[in-house]
Amino acid sequence: MSRTRIFSGVKPTGHLTLGNYLGAVRRWAEQDQHRADAVFCVVDLHALTVAHDPARVRRLSRQAATVLLAAGLDPERCTLFVQSHVDEHTRLSYLLECTATDGEMRRMIQYKEKSARERAGDGGSGSVRLSLLTYPALMAADILAYGTDEVPVGDDQAQHVELTRDLARRFNERYGHVFTVPRATRPPVAARVMDLQDPTSKMGKSHARSAGIVYLLDEPDTVRRKIMRAVTDGGSEVRYDREAQPGVANLLDILSAATGCTQRPEELAGEFGSYGALKKDTAEAVVELLRPLRERHAALSSETAYVEGVLRAGAERARAMARPRVDAAYRAIGLLPPE
Ligand code: AMP
Ligand code: TRP
Repeated sequence: MSRTRIFSGVKPTGHLTLGNYLGAVRRWAEQDQHRADAVFCVVDLHALTVAHDPARVRRLSRQAATVLLAAGLDPERCTLFVQSHVDEHTRLSYLLECTATDGEMRRMIQYKEKSARERAGDGGSGSVRLSLLTYPALMAADILAYGTDEVPVGDDQAQHVELTRDLARRFNERYGHVFTVPRATRPPVAARVMDLQDPTSKMGKSHARSAGIVYLLDEPDTVRRKIMRAVTDGGSEVRYDREAQPGVANLLDILSAATGCTQRPEELAGEFGSYGALKKDTAEAVVELLRPLRERHAALSSETAYVEGVLRAGAERARAMARPRVDAAYRAIGLLPPE
């Protein structure tokens, strides 16, 4: 039996957040790379689906790779690379656009939300890039090119992984078995960390207002301030109720996850007599959680040659992993081999 293959990615559209860490990255480092053949990717092509600044994407791509290494990804144990360095992703993406329908792309929640935001010009450009619609075909290509079994992601990506499964099955049925059908895996708590200032929306790295977003590289005092100022709900009783008390439930999720999930958020609720006490403990737990990452990042940030070397070797390995399956898909769908 071959080892389980894991693939996941992060978009360089902003600084990485506590949501990225608790929803995805922490598992990559603490579990996935130790138990499976794991491949992690800075998915820079996905950052071009909304209005972007070229210099910023370049800077954020390098920074995301550095933060992932600081978070504990070990190039001896996993493969870390930048999506645009491996042509197989866009090669396969086209075949998956020829497998998907425009209806299923338009049904994606993220497309509906982001395209509405872009059209409204609300921090966006007033128009919608075609790639925002076709994005899930590229994401499916990222996953399927590697024969992936598991995709560790936060809740917001579940629908995209579901579509990836549909495309894999449809392609296999039509053209013969080429792809493994992957499944999403989610963390036991904090699969959807909410914005501290608006606990009904996701903590997202590209939001304009940063007061409700904890960035992984925030100074400890900034982290404390953001959490102490988190919007909580009417009343003062600490209960775990995502509907009625989303702000408090979010803090309980974060605290549970930051302290290693030894206690469920529902259990933790009983330990606090006030919102203030809950915020204080949550703030300290998050500061401690992020401390080693911040320290490793400080040491790595001057090691640009090392990071570049890791990415170069990662891209080479990734190319070798993806190439045979993408070639097989080209043959299966009816394209004449070049030789
Ligand atoms: P992105 O920032 O969209 O590139 O997401 C990278 C990974 O982090 C994906 O697996 C997301 O599902 C996950 N993620 C992003 N934001 C959150 C959040 N607020 N809560 C939990 N997981 C998240
Ligand atoms: N779409 C994902 C996000 O926005 C990022 C991503 C791109 C991804 N390709 C992927 C995640 C492949 C997992 C697997 O978060």
